[in-house]
Amino acid sequence: MNYKRMPIEIEAPEQLGYHTIDCNLTESSYTDFRFRDLGLDLNELLISYVDHRGHPGLRMLLSEETRGIISPDQVLLTSGAAQALFIISSSLLNPGDEIIVVRPNYATNLETPRALGARLRIVDLDFESGYRTHPEAIAALLTPKTKLVSITVPHNPTGTVMTERDLDAIIELTGKAGCMLLVDETYREMNFEGVLPHAATRAPHVISVASFSKTFGLPGIRVGWLMTGHAAAFESFFAAKEQIQICGSALDEEIAYQFYKKKNYFLPAILSNLKRKFTIVKDWYENQNHFEWVEPRGGCVAFPRFKKAVSERIDLEGFYRTLNQDLNTHVGPGHWFEQSKTSMRIGYGWPGEDELKRGLENLSKAIEVNLKS
Ligand SMILES: Cc1ncc(COP(=O)(O)O)c(C=O)c1O
Repeated sequence: MNYKRMPIEIEAPEQLGYHTIDCNLTESSYTDFRFRDLGLDLNELLISYVDHRGHPGLRMLLSEETRGIISPDQVLLTSGAAQALFIISSSLLNPGDEIIVVRPNYATNLETPRALGARLRIVDLDFESGYRTHPEAIAALLTPKTKLVSITVPHNPTGTVMTERDLDAIIELTGKAGCMLLVDETYREMNFEGVLPHAATRAPHVISVASFSKTFGLPGIRVGWLMTGHAAAFESFFAAKEQIQICGSALDEEIAYQFYKKKNYFLPAILSNLKRKFTIVKDWYENQNHFEWVEPRGGCVAFPRFKKAVSERIDLEGFYRTLNQDLNTHVGPGHWFEQSKTSMRIGYGWPGEDELKRGLENLSKAIEVNLKS
């Protein structure tokens, strides 16, 4: 393994200190919950080792959402989606094996296979095609050495969503090629076009990954999951988890379970709040002249870029300096996603409405100050 720290983690707001940032537009999740707002009494909880696959009640709830197509025993709780992604890559990829992965992407989806010595065959999504993941682009890169194809739906950092038809086409072509398909569906329930089915319900070679971090605003409990109907792959993922940590945290999993039992209470409020914040971002976008974007249709992030005329005239480093140091505002610069810093991720689901509005105004201010005449 050749581990390297990634810019997105080195420069993460929690590493800078949340209290040092006035307008935090870097986050890719909904606003974090406070424990007291969950209404839980956990005093009787036994802090023992727990079921190695993860909390049986929670796995049952997740299985029910797949209408039982994925059984509770085909669900593995993990320490965040991040751990699920690590387990999947490290179980399926040996040095020299090929993985097809889209870019931009959540950085780990690229970096972990790279650290393992796998050969990355990258599908670069482009602005002009609306950041669409074309099934044909994946088909063109498949070879007998392809072990894994990795997609993210809805997509981070662009907030674009895939049609069910494209998803089905990718499931079909990977099935025919005999490789596994990882669908990072961390934002599955934040889809303005309608929620897609869990991809793993479609075919045994598909693995769905998600967590409590993004849609549910609980990143600090570090609970995520993977699900797949592929028995041999599941066994290997399960073995990996037991070797990493035996089992998950009793406390984290109980919080996740109790929360999920009340999902129908929490989720509508989250989604309606998100909708309001999206309106704020959209209003800002329509009333400014420096950025262009592919309008997000899911998730809680947008990935605008400077218009060409701005790109040509801006002092880019100066822009980020003014934004970060003078205006105390942070976004996710393009290099977090192996892109130019003329693109940036704006997380609009996390900040409060005032913070969001101030942050967006500060973007325009930082541009004005750094435009060369
Ligand atoms: C698409 C995607 N997948 C996975 C993760 C990992 O999140 P976590 O481990 O908190 O579930 C992230 C975090 O940003 C993400 O954006």
